[in-house]
Order: sequence, then C-alpha cells, then structure tokens
Amino acid sequence: MNDSCDVVQRAAKVFTPALHLYYPISVVRGEGVSVYAADGRSWLDFSSGLAVLAVGHNHPRVVAAAQKQLENLIHTGGVYFNETTVAAAEKLVSITPPGLDRLFFSNSGAEAVEGALKVARYVTGRQGILSFTRAFHGRTLGALSVTTSSSAYRKRYHPLLPSVYQTPYPYCFRCPFRQEPDSCGLCCLQDLKETLKHRIPGDEIAAIIIEPFLGEGGYFPAPPAFLVALRELCDHYGILLIFDEVQSGMGRTGRWFASEISAVVPDIMTVAKGIASGFPLSAVVARKEIMEQWPSGAHGTTFGGNPVSCAACSATIDVIRDESLLEKTTLRGDMILERLQRLAKSHPVIGQVRGHGFMIGIEFVLPDHAPDPGSCEEVISYCLKHGLILINCGIDRNVIRFIPPLTTTDRELDNALTIFEEGVQRLG
Ligand SMILES: Cc1ncc(COP(=O)(O)O)c(C=O)c1O
Repeated sequence: MNDSCDVVQRAAKVFTPALHLYYPISVVRGEGVSVYAADGRSWLDFSSGLAVLAVGHNHPRVVAAAQKQLENLIHTGGVYFNETTVAAAEKLVSITPPGLDRLFFSNSGAEAVEGALKVARYVTGRQGILSFTRAFHGRTLGALSVTTSSSAYRKRYHPLLPSVYQTPYPYCFRCPFRQEPDSCGLCCLQDLKETLKHRIPGDEIAAIIIEPFLGEGGYFPAPPAFLVALRELCDHYGILLIFDEVQSGMGRTGRWFASEISAVVPDIMTVAKGIASGFPLSAVVARKEIMEQWPSGAHGTTFGGNPVSCAACSATIDVIRDESLLEKTTLRGDMILERLQRLAKSHPVIGQVRGHGFMIGIEFVLPDHAPDPGSCEEVISYCLKHGLILINCGIDRNVIRFIPPLTTTDRELDNALTIFEEGVQRLG
C-alpha cells in the first residue's frame, strides 16, 4: 500500500464522515502551484486549497515571515498587543475599499461572517437580515442561517437564526425570472422590494449580506448595476450592506476585492481565505463610525489576530504588490477566459465561461440547458488522473472553479488548460 492510501484509510478511522474532503489523495509537500505525494506523483493545484493560496503553496517570503515570527512570539490571546498584528491590520486596511478602515481579526470565514452579522445587529438595534439564494457564508449557526447553497448544509439544524429572509441572487445564466440580463430591469431587485413590502419592512432590517462574486453557489459575478441598486436601497432604509469577500477577495479577481468591479463600497466586509496564504486568519472590516459603536466586550476572540498568521498576512500583501500580481492576474485571466470561451464554442456541453482574473466558473449543461453535473464530474476526474486538481461548485455541482494561485506562470496555465481541454474533448 502506498503512503497516500494509508493516510486516506487512517483518516476514515479518526475523522467523522461529516468532514468532506474532495479527493482520496494525500500530499506531503506544496510549492507554488504544485502539490506532491510521498510516492512522487504531483498535481497542479488549481483549487488553490479552496481559494486560499493567493501566492501559492509555501511562498518563500511567507515562509520566512512566519518563521521569523515563530521564533519570537506565537500567541497573544487578546491579553496584550503585538507589533506584527497591528502592522497586518494597518496593511489590510490600506487595501480595503475607501472608508473601510477598522477591523476585527478572527480565524475563519464563518467567524468573520458571525462578526459582521453581530456588529450589524448591535449597531442598528434591528433584528432582520437578508441574504441571497445560492449563497454560501459558512457553517456556524449564524453563518448557516444566511447560507442557502444546499439544504444538506442546513438539514436537521433548524431552527436557525430568526428574522432571516432570502431573496434571489442575480444568477443571470439561470435567471429566476427567465429574463435576459440586458433587458430584465433588475427583476431580482424588484423581488427584493416585494419582500420589504410583504415580509419584513426595510426599517427592521439590520443588514443585507451578499457575495459580490458568488462563490460556492456557482461562481457568478453579480451584475454591477444590481450592486449599485442594492447600495441605493440600503442607503434608503438605513440597512448596512455586507459584502462577503471571503472567497472573492485578496486579488482573486485581479482587484484586491471584487467590490472594485462595481465600485460599490459596502458598509461592512468579511475577508479570510487568501489573506494569510493558508494560515488561519479572517477579519470583519467596516467604517469607523460603525466599529466605534461596537463597545469593548461586545465581541471577542482567543486566537484571532494570531501573530504568525498576521506575519503571513503582511507578507502575502507585500508579495501581491511587489510581484504586480493584480495586473498579471487581470491579463492572464483575460487570456484564460478567451481560450475557454473558444473551447465552449465547439463544445456545447460548456454552457458558459465567466469571471474575472483567476476566479473563473465553467458551467456544464445538457442539450436542454439543464445542469450537467455528470460531465462536470467526468472532466474533473480526467484532470485529476492527469495531474490537475480542479474542484466543482454550484447548487447542482455542475460548475468547475478555475482558481489557480495568482503566482501561476503562463507555462503552468498552458499545461493546465491543455489537460482541461483534453478532458472536455473526451466527453462522449
Ligand atoms: C463567501 C464565503 N464566505 C464564508 C465562507 C466560510 O469560510 P470558512 O470555511 O473559512 O469558515 C466561505 C467558504 O468557502 C465562503 O466562500
């Protein structure tokens, strides 16, 4: 038995099956875009460890920064301050949208979402929360209450948070109102307004939470016009607008944050995943006027802002800046889109290729346009066998996420695209 099989079998004996891993492979080393098994096999990791590794596996500058911090101080526990943690906070707010300059560090995406919902309720004194269909915001009970990408995530956990309502995400490829994006008159927004008329008045809503670029629910960027209109609606009712940028942030779309695509600035933003290159770190970021109304003790953490994670966060931001990765990701993203869209033209099983930068969704469809999870799965399996890790998403699991690290070279992209194209060409 090779090491990889042994690890997978041992895992089954110690972990609950609730812990879902995508593939029965075990890796011992990661470098850049690649991961390596003990038996010498390697894969191009185009999952980026679930959209986390913005600057790739074990970037030398991230490793050096973390090592240096490890030698001095590992933990503060919210007992005392530390230069590294404050410096990371300063660096992070130097790249967040204008005015979002106060933050609270925590450990995971879900925890940041909890913090965002809590601060919104605290500051507005209102209960209501609006989230979107297809949304994924995490697995803790508050975050789960605003997550609707799969009922499997919510099964047997009800009742969830009260006063949480859902409204359709503008997933134009499968428009819930069967409209065309150019002529729909923002039906999704009209529907949201109906919710305010019939289910909960706008002045009882604390926050609307949305992924400006839908992640787990299908990799679909919200149309900028929708986000602009949502901003106006929130302003009208005094509702706080939360952008969940846990997946779409830190350069993934070729901008620091996906909000820059629409130029809509939220009141509160959640970030995690890519911000510390794999070290656990997340943050709720908001305007000063909001954060100043959240008094000492209203929220807390033991591990949030861990100095080693924060050292990795600062190094990650430096690498993205110094290696001009935003600009490179935008250019390379356009190249990938073009190449995949060409493939889609000759292979109708690909219904749509969409996205920005290195956040690209490839949606598989049957001839009648219905979701085709089977073909999606076949292509993913082919790629895995041939050295390319891809992961799926979407409420029907029929979308492939193309999310390499921002450091991926042209040659690595070309290798991955060639494997992917072969996988699609082999479909029956
Ligand atoms: C948009 C979004 N929000 C929140 C989360 C939850 O993050 P975590 O798994 O770190 O709790 C995720 C995870 O995929 C996500 O994509």
